[in-house]
Formats: sequence, C-alpha cells, structure tokens
Amino acid sequence: MTHTPAPRHIARVVTAHQQREGAGFVVRRPMPTTGLDQVDPFLMLDEVGPVTYAPGQATGAPDHPHRGFETVSYILSGEKLHEDSTGKAQLIGAGDVQWMTAGAGIVHSELPGPNFKASGGLAHGFQIWVNLPSANKFAEPGYQYLPAAKIPKAISPDGLIEVTVVAGKAFGVAAAIGTHTPIWLQDWRVQPSAEAEIDIDPSFNAAAYVFDGAVCFGVDKAPVQNGQMALFSTGERLRVSGPAGESGGRFLLLAGEPIAEPVARHGPFVMNTQDELVAAFEDFQSGRMGIIERNSAQSPGG
Ligand code: CO
Repeated sequence: MTHTPAPRHIARVVTAHQQREGAGFVVRRPMPTTGLDQVDPFLMLDEVGPVTYAPGQATGAPDHPHRGFETVSYILSGEKLHEDSTGKAQLIGAGDVQWMTAGAGIVHSELPGPNFKASGGLAHGFQIWVNLPSANKFAEPGYQYLPAAKIPKAISPDGLIEVTVVAGKAFGVAAAIGTHTPIWLQDWRVQPSAEAEIDIDPSFNAAAYVFDGAVCFGVDKAPVQNGQMALFSTGERLRVSGPAGESGGRFLLLAGEPIAEPVARHGPFVMNTQDELVAAFEDFQSGRMGIIERNSAQSPGG
C-alpha cells in the first residue's frame, strides 16, 4: 500500500500594505492586515526598508516592553543594537538572527549600531512576531543570537535553491535555533527554472512572503510577486519553482503548528485574555518588567 502525499497549493494571496514610519522609511506589512490577523503561530511580519540612510540619520525603536510572545529580528543589511532589561546587549549585523523570548516580560531597545549610525548606509531586514502558547507566555525572558556564519544553509537537489535555515529544516539541514512550538522560518533564494519539493508537516499552517523577484508555488506553478504573501492549503508536499526568465526570486517561508488559543493583543503585548492584557500594562507601568541599565563603560556585543 502506498501513500501519495497531498500537495499544498496557494489558497490565498495577500498583498503587503506599505506604511511610512517615523523618519520616512517604508515598512511592508503583509500581516496583520485587513482580513488577516495572523497565520497561527505567526502574529506579524514586517519588512523594514530597504532604506538608505545618510550619516547620522538612521533611526530605531527606543526602550519599550513586550510580554507573551517572541520577536525575531533577521537583518539583511545594516546593523542593529539590542539592549534589554535582563542586562544584555547585542549587536545584530547583516545576515544575523536574534530570536527573543519576551515571555514574562522584557524591556528592550532596538537602535542603529553606533558605527552604522555614524556611517549611514543601506538598512533592510525583517521583524517577525511569533506567538507563545499559554503554558510558555510567562517563560523566562531572554534571546538566542546567531551570527550569519552560524546559521545553517541548505541547497536543493538541483543546486538552484539556497535556503538559510533559521528555524525548522530544509533538504535535510536542521536549524540551530530552538523554538517552544514546532516552527519553520527560512530565507529561500530561488534561481530561474529551479524545481524542488518539500514535505511540510500536514498539521502546520504555511505561508511564503516574496520580497524579491517572483517565485512559483504548487503543482500548477502559480507565480507570487515581490510584496505578496501566499497562504497555502493544508497538505504535505509543497512544490517550489523558479520563475521563467533570467531573474529568480527570494521569499521567507513561515510554517508552524497552530497554537489554536484565544489571542488578546494590544501594542507590545500578546496574551490570551483582556484581563491578562490589563495586567501586562500595569506590570510594565509599575516597573515590574524592569528597566535597561545603561553603563557607559559597557561595550555591546556580548
Ligand atoms: Co520590540
């Protein structure tokens, strides 16, 4: 008796909406957007930039709290300095990933690294919010940091697709980062006429956000363009194909086991109930999530 894996196909395509942030740079956000609150367990996907800063002009997010979920920073170009209320500081450079568990509560800042701020240059990257199940919403806050060189890379059998495996696995290569629930987060670079099939656990939700060129999905090779996110049907196998022509495409693959719990979210907090949101605001305002102690002698990077 043989089992033929059911293919996944594109169930829906969402176009990222653009919004201008503080200094005038563009953020593309496919989720949340009108009619799409989340792709459980993913709560938000922001593509920040690309934007070219003049010397001294780069901006970021000063001290702010989070509770109840995780924030993932994946930097493509530029440099971000993270500091937090657990006393840690981390410079996150091009190709690096920081997977932060806000858990019970953390205050952090995300500002341009001092060298990048001084020199200016191209800033481009992603900020992804991943939900935590109720059992882990009060986990100890902290983060996993991986420099670009330590993030596993996978190559498709035809050699035409390179995958940066931030979470999950691709073509037999497993990620180095651990997650609370089964999650895949990967950066796929697809050359023209590439062909590959991958098995994604049928219990997972799955989506792909194309941020360069175009990539085709499913057995019917439906094209998804730069700035669009495809949500896939249930199934097992997903076919990924390069577009016809001379230029390929690049996308983030987001897949994971749905948490399937009520989501109460407001600003920087993601809980299960309104009462827990109120408690989060009270705990932050009364200082119970801590503050960032800044010591001028401290050098970032550790
Ligand atoms: Co933040």
